[in-house]
Amino acid sequence: MSNPQNTVPGPIGIFDSGYGGLTILHQIKQLLPQYDYLYLGDNARTPYGTRSFEVVYEFTLEAVEKLFSMGCNLVILACNTASAKALKTIQQNDLKRMTTLKKVLGIIRPTAECVDKLTHSRHVGILATDGTIKSGSYPLEIHKLYPDITVTGEACPMWVPLVENYEFDSPGADYFVQKRINNLLRKDPEIDTIILGCTHYPLLINKIMKYTPRNIKLVPQGEYVAYSLKSYLERHHEIEELCTKKGSCRFLTTESPEKFKESASVFLRKHIEAERVTLEKV
Ligand code: DGL
Repeated sequence: MSNPQNTVPGPIGIFDSGYGGLTILHQIKQLLPQYDYLYLGDNARTPYGTRSFEVVYEFTLEAVEKLFSMGCNLVILACNTASAKALKTIQQNDLKRMTTLKKVLGIIRPTAECVDKLTHSRHVGILATDGTIKSGSYPLEIHKLYPDITVTGEACPMWVPLVENYEFDSPGADYFVQKRINNLLRKDPEIDTIILGCTHYPLLINKIMKYTPRNIKLVPQGEYVAYSLKSYLERHHEIEELCTKKGSCRFLTTESPEKFKESASVFLRKHIEAERVTLEKV
């Protein structure tokens, strides 16, 4: 009896503070095109990167509740900041009090898992939002698995605004990208692997590559998150059975659907339709 509570199957929920999670959705859809997806961007309240633990947790829980109420049984927090600041409390407190089969997964653990195979020097760098760096989640998750790896972080507060304002390929972006990479490598010159620990950063990849020495591996996380989800669904049949499979994808935003459509097409390189939703306090 794999579904004792007779939960109705539904789409996989993908949540981000805004557009960044679309880079994760893209990779997940490439690997797992058969499932239905419901993407929610809290664009009205983005960015989360500079907000407190309390507020990120509150906002993320509202989003998760919304996706649950719209039929999702599995929600991926496709946002490092939400994964760093809200995932544990949601998993350990909120899901426990909701007596359902519903699950919430983050993207930091799957990214942390991959570094062992990539680093030879055992020195890894993390580029992420201020919130993710201050949370200490990446060193924590990496050290749980590989205690010998030295992890050094650098917060990049200007990178999300550059992406959100379509400045990722502009000459102005060079200054901010170079500055943060130099800072990181100055802190630890032995780094041979850098995790792009923010879902917006794949859009800055050309600039990041320009200022990163060739011998250093850059790790955008989408592919690792997608493989980790595939493996999770293979190991958890009771959850896999609760994911509908018609290959559809629906987009929700807390801001104007017109704005979302315009920016989403930059992130996904295709035209999409979006619907507006409001998130209430639970
Ligand atoms: N997408 C978020 C992340 O991966 C960054 C955007 C924000 O600050 O809200 O951390």
